[in-house]
Amino acid sequence: MRIVSIDSREDHAVELDTAADVALRRDDFLVPPAVGGEFPLTAYLAGNSLGLQPRATRGELMADLDAWEEYAVHGHTDADRPWVDYHEALRGPAARLVGALPREVVVMNSLTVNLHLLLASFYRPTAIRHRIVIEDYAFSSDSYAVRSHVAFRGHDPDTAVLRLRPRPGEDTLRTDDVISTLNDHAHSIATVMLGGVNYLTGEVLDMQEITEAGHAIGATVGWDLAHAVGNVPLALHDCDADFAAWCHYKYVNSGPGAVAGAFVHERHLDNPALPRLEGWWSTDPATRFEMRPVSQPQATADAWSLSNPPIFAMGPVRTSLELFDSVGMDALRDRSLRLTAYLRGLLETLAARSDVVIVTPDDDAHHGAQLSVRVRVDVADLTERMSSNWGVVADDRQPDIIRLAPAPLYCTFHDCWRAADALSQELTGEGIA
Ligand SMILES: Cc1ncc(COP(=O)(O)O)c(C=O)c1O
Repeated sequence: MRIVSIDSREDHAVELDTAADVALRRDDFLVPPAVGGEFPLTAYLAGNSLGLQPRATRGELMADLDAWEEYAVHGHTDADRPWVDYHEALRGPAARLVGALPREVVVMNSLTVNLHLLLASFYRPTAIRHRIVIEDYAFSSDSYAVRSHVAFRGHDPDTAVLRLRPRPGEDTLRTDDVISTLNDHAHSIATVMLGGVNYLTGEVLDMQEITEAGHAIGATVGWDLAHAVGNVPLALHDCDADFAAWCHYKYVNSGPGAVAGAFVHERHLDNPALPRLEGWWSTDPATRFEMRPVSQPQATADAWSLSNPPIFAMGPVRTSLELFDSVGMDALRDRSLRLTAYLRGLLETLAARSDVVIVTPDDDAHHGAQLSVRVRVDVADLTERMSSNWGVVADDRQPDIIRLAPAPLYCTFHDCWRAADALSQELTGEGIA
């Protein structure tokens, strides 16, 4: 979505906010007070890092604490939401968000832990086929995870981890180049594990095409959806991904370190030959408490879960997933595209009179809510000044990127305007209008 000529007046942003919009649920969130500037509340564009707190979360959390007080150990079975199968309530909404069948999804652990558990099953190196493909600018934890897996299986991470780089002078990957690299190293690649939306550039990769290309060379394909879930429409089942993992603390707003999600494609669920790390939550719940020595997993993603779930951390995920169900991804994406198109238009106005560069691709198929901007000043200092002088919260990634993400559930057009204005004021000494 492209806005050809942008009206950069503040009044216009305010007008845009008066239109009714089913996907705007700002009143359901707690927006923090601004630390600086003329507005009482923060313009919060850091939902790509940590989403805001839904108002409902505190009450739900208190209800779970009350159940512990009232039932103690009997809460496992007698609480209003019995703890023993608490995670069942999260399965459906999480599956809808990532485009999966309910039995392909389980909410558990944290993101990097889930990546490790899934790599333990889906990275099956041989002497020749032992490479893992990631983005050169993959999130550090993913890089550490795959390097440690490769080393764990006796291979050299410096040669066995293949890092995809954009062309010289470009910031993002081209699908054709990704596919060529896979074909060039077809016999040595065991697993492809990429970010659905890259954390740094905000680029959305062509998941379907890359998954197909990975399978065509005989590799398994998994996705880190940390920046994709709750941000862009996903179709994990249909794109035939082998595995995926994500967190719920960014666009899904379930709180810092929230319990994460994992996906295993249906076609792997009934495969007894697939190795797996297991615990007592892997086994069939019907016989779990018989404490048998050998597990009997059901054909669901739960077979990858290990421990009884942390109930006080599951409640916030349940609460925030409900919000997504009530809005729906189509309406959310529609609002997201309008917000980012507006923000991009303002940033292009700024780019025309300064040296900022918008790194995130501008075709709708290749971006979500985040726009990454390259600047020529100290980024940590810049984001600090945007907050203390203008009440705008963005985040920075060294050495030269600031990320602005108008999360559609709670960000307004006026928030976008404030972000562009703050950036303009700090970089050029003039406002955006
Ligand atoms: C793309 C990506 N992968 C992995 C991680 C690590 O997540 P966690 O600390 O939940 O394991 C993050 C955290 O922000 C991330 O953005």
